[in-house]
Amino acid sequence: MAPIIQTRDLKKQYNPPDGPLAVRDVDLVIETGEVYSLLGPNGAGKTTTISMLSGLLQPSGGEAIIAGYNIATDPIKAKQVIGVIPQEIALYPRLTGRQNLRFFGQLYGLSGRALESAIDEVLEFIDLRDRADEKVEKYSGGMKRRVNIGVGLLHRPRIVFMDEPTVGIDPQSRRRILDAVLELKQRYGMTVLYTTHYMEEAQELSDRVGIIDHGVIIAEGTTGQLIQMIGELDQIILRVDNQQVPPAMLEQFGNVEGVTSVNQQDGELTVRARRGRKALPDLITIANNAGVHISSVRVQEPDLEAVFLHLTGRALRE
Ligand SMILES: Nc1ncnc2c1ncn2[C@@H]1O[C@H](COP(=O)(O)OP(=O)(O)OP(=O)(O)O)[C@@H](O)[C@H]1O
Ligand SMILES: [Mg+2]
Repeated sequence: MAPIIQTRDLKKQYNPPDGPLAVRDVDLVIETGEVYSLLGPNGAGKTTTISMLSGLLQPSGGEAIIAGYNIATDPIKAKQVIGVIPQEIALYPRLTGRQNLRFFGQLYGLSGRALESAIDEVLEFIDLRDRADEKVEKYSGGMKRRVNIGVGLLHRPRIVFMDEPTVGIDPQSRRRILDAVLELKQRYGMTVLYTTHYMEEAQELSDRVGIIDHGVIIAEGTTGQLIQMIGELDQIILRVDNQQVPPAMLEQFGNVEGVTSVNQQDGELTVRARRGRKALPDLITIANNAGVHISSVRVQEPDLEAVFLHLTGRALRE
């Protein structure tokens, strides 16, 4: 089956000829039913990419095919299969949640029974039935976000674009949104293109992640593949405070399977190893035998943050 989203050399330059190249030659291939995250810092080009794919912004070059429709030549058909959940909340504060859904549903061409049942289904999905008839201005940030998501789902799209849907909201609402993304995939078989600058979200939700920086997808794959690609090792940090550590013990540490280096600094021993959790029991036994007391243990496994740092030399979070 052809990929449900495919782009070739997608580009955007704002204010040509001198404006910034916000997106450069992006090639995306996303299969039906995948959750694909674009992970990148502020200004990386996430919103620009989503806006081009949803037909809101004209690309400066390249093309995008959505569910078989070229977004440039078949925009109406393409837009019918897409639900867009924009980064900026776009709701009428004086209207209730339900009235907002009704208004936007009518814009999508829904009416009558079909519209009302779509609204009920969406309210159920975003878990807002009991507050649906209150004005949006009285909602928390998280509730507004959820209505924003509901708007994008009313016409039962096959593909959902979600642009940083969890920024600036409370942890509980965030959890609900993340669960909703998983449910869209698992229960409705939807394809989700998700953008975020939170690596934990990308890691939890995605089948695959594209790391985007300065408009370029600099790496792509499953979280496991990306971590493997940079060859980053686990770190085991053992706190020994100001005890004397016999050199023979450090040597024995170095001989444990998978261990590649041992460093001592500021009352801590840092051991780098492949599969750190496997090496840990041996390290503790060796320390015990040497009479060195370990007051705390931390195992740091590499994550997408480490991948980003490795690739760009910068932290993902500012
Ligand atoms: N309308 C515009 N006119 C000119 N430049 C723009 C415009 N919109 C975005 N840009 C620039 O394009 C680049 C990419 O912006 P974009 O909004 O796509 O990034 P983003 O990854 O969505 O960032 P954020 O995480 O802050 O939402 C940035 O350098 C931004 O300043
Ligand atoms: Mg953005």
